[in-house]
Amino acid sequence: MGNSFSGIPDNSIVDSISAVYKLQMPDAIFEKLSAFIYREFGIKMPPVKKVMLQSRLQRRLRELQMNSYEQYCDFVFSKEGEAMELVHMIDVVTTNKTDFFREPAHFDFMQQVVLPEFVHKNKKNPLLKIWSAGCSSGEEVYTLAIVLSEFARNQQELDFSILGTDISSAILRKAFDAVYTESRVANIPMELKKRYFLRSRDREKPSVRVVPELRKKTHYARLNFMDENYDIRENFDVIFCRNVLIYFDRVTQQNVINRLCRSLKTGGYFFLGHSESITSMNVPLVQLKPTVFMKV
Ligand SMILES: C[S@@+](CC[C@H](N)C(=O)[O-])C[C@H]1O[C@@H](n2cnc3c(N)ncnc32)[C@H](O)[C@@H]1O
Repeated sequence: MGNSFSGIPDNSIVDSISAVYKLQMPDAIFEKLSAFIYREFGIKMPPVKKVMLQSRLQRRLRELQMNSYEQYCDFVFSKEGEAMELVHMIDVVTTNKTDFFREPAHFDFMQQVVLPEFVHKNKKNPLLKIWSAGCSSGEEVYTLAIVLSEFARNQQELDFSILGTDISSAILRKAFDAVYTESRVANIPMELKKRYFLRSRDREKPSVRVVPELRKKTHYARLNFMDENYDIRENFDVIFCRNVLIYFDRVTQQNVINRLCRSLKTGGYFFLGHSESITSMNVPLVQLKPTVFMKV
C-alpha cells in the first residue's frame, strides 16, 4: 500500500506529476494543435506561443491523467475528444482578462452622447439594446447596466436589455452568476456599489453579487466568432466588441466585424478595444473617435 493515507503522496503520483512538469511539447504536436486552435477559434498561435501553450496544457494533461502531449493530441483529434475537449481547450487558449469600468472613456461617451441621443430619438419606445460580444465574466455587461441605470435614474426614461456572448461556457456561467470578489469591485465608487451590489454574509470569503434588478436586464449565449452565421435575431443599437479581435488575424477581424454589423442598426454605435482598429478594412463603419464607430 502507498503512503498517501498519511498525507504524504504516493511516490508513483509524485513521479508522474514531475514527469508531466518536465514534458516538452514536440514541434510537430505544437503545429497540429496551433493549426486546430486557429481553425476552430480564430486565435493566432505563432511559434513564440509554444511555451505558453505547453505550460497551460500541463494542467489538462494532469486532469486527464495523460503523460505525453502526443497522447493528448490523439485524444483531441478523436471523435470523443473533439466533442469533449473543445470546451476545455478554449479556456486554456483564451485570455479572459476584463474589469469593471475598463477603458472608462467609452462609458463617458455612452453617457454623454449615445444615451441622450437615443432617448431624444426614441421617446415612444426608449428600449436600448446592447450586445457585449466577447463579454468574458460579465464585468463589461454589468458596467453598462450600471451606467444605463444611472442615466435613467438621474435624467430621462430609459429601458435597456444587454446580451453577453462568449465562446467559453465556463466564463459565461460566471457572468450569469454575477458573483465577484470584493477586490474585483474595489475601484467602483461606494455609492454605486451600495446601489448595485449585494454583499455576501460569508466573512471568510467576502464577495458581492449584482442586484437582481440589473441581472434581469441581461441575458447570455455561447457564440463562436468563427461561425459563418451568428444565430442572433435581435437588432442592436450598440455593440461592444473590445479586446477580443487582437487575437485574430486581419482577415478574420474584418469578417467578424462584418458579421457583427449585420446585427447593428444603421446609425448604431460600435466600440473596439484600445489597441484595435478598422484601418484599411472593408466594413460598414465610420470612425467617430479612435475606438468608437458608427454604422453607415
Ligand atoms: C480579454 S476578454 C475581453 C473581455 C471584455 N470584452 C473586455 O474588454 O474587458 C476576451 C474574451 O473573448 C473571448 N473569445 C476568444 N475567442 C473567441 C471566439 N472565437 N469567439 C467568441 N469569443 C471569443 C474569450 O473567451 C474572452 O472571454
